[in-house]
Amino acid sequence: MTDKRLRSFSGIQPSGKIHIGNYTGALKPWVDAQDEVDGIYCVVDLHALTASDREPRKSVGEQSREVAALYLACGLDPKASTIFLQSEVWTHPYLSWVFETQVPLGWLTRMTQFKSKANETDSVPTALLTYPVLQAADILLYDAEIVPVGEDQKQHIEIARDIAQRFNSTYGSAFVLPEPKIGVHGSRIMALDEPTVKMSKSRALVNRGHSIGITDDPDAISRTIRRAVTDSGTSVDVQNAGAGIRNLLNIYRSFSGESDQEASARFDGKGYGVLKNELAELLVDALAPIRSEYQRLLAERLYLNDVLNEGQERAFRLSTEKVACVLEILGLRG
Ligand code: TYM
Repeated sequence: MTDKRLRSFSGIQPSGKIHIGNYTGALKPWVDAQDEVDGIYCVVDLHALTASDREPRKSVGEQSREVAALYLACGLDPKASTIFLQSEVWTHPYLSWVFETQVPLGWLTRMTQFKSKANETDSVPTALLTYPVLQAADILLYDAEIVPVGEDQKQHIEIARDIAQRFNSTYGSAFVLPEPKIGVHGSRIMALDEPTVKMSKSRALVNRGHSIGITDDPDAISRTIRRAVTDSGTSVDVQNAGAGIRNLLNIYRSFSGESDQEASARFDGKGYGVLKNELAELLVDALAPIRSEYQRLLAERLYLNDVLNEGQERAFRLSTEKVACVLEILGLRG
């Protein structure tokens, strides 16, 4: 019998501090959909080599294993989903190179993420420019129909689609065109210390009040929420809420699953302190089981190895079939 489920592919870069935005924008939607899709979830460690926010006390390998443990602790079931490390499946950089021979430079220089990151440093690594091409290879290798991500990744999924379309129209149908799958709530969580900017993994390393880590302890969670920037008033006005209160309400909705109306009715007219207390309690309750499961899994080295080996085998098998097909189309074989 053929598998009729949609193929879903996504990944997280093992860098910085993995936060609640990564959870609501990516991990939670992966877990929520795992019984309905054929999910392939990669720890994109080769991408992390381009990151300026690598945790200085840890190797990329160590951080990658931690992120893999986090995938499981958040509820991904290795029997239902494929979980693997990108660097263990060489077809990813291989297809990326093939795409680089086809992708116009202008497509890459106009990417928003490249423009903003390139401005932060004098010596821009080439991989910062070609990063979206590797990301396209990640997705297209597996014929992924949907890519569940946060809003910031939309442009990257669109370029993957453009690359697939260009290849297909030049050489004949080789790739499935992927669609970004971006949730209504939780796909753009803002920083708690500066609610006009997106919560980011790198900022969290330098600024404690910036984010809440998925594995933060209850004290740290409550402290960060208590200090979170609000609007200038004292009580919640849902209709006219500014960036700070909108962000707190949005986080509340993402974790509680409540509708806009329910959350509005709960907090409208209440003091900021009430919203903060309830939000802190909700986050502590939601994250505590993830934290303890994460700590348990980190100690289970052999189990984690088994999960990653099994994931790698399937990813390798699927992706080498795709690479063989591409080489054939390009006339490199036969
Ligand atoms: P990364 O590692 O920066 O982020 C991982 C996921 O978390 C989402 N996200 C957020 N969602 C809501 N609010 C936020 N503040 C927030 N910050 C991050 C991201 O949208 C993402 O879904 N380039 C990718 C990794 C990647 C990838 C792929 C993703 C490489 N290859 C193939 C999908 C498919 C990245 O750096 O994500």
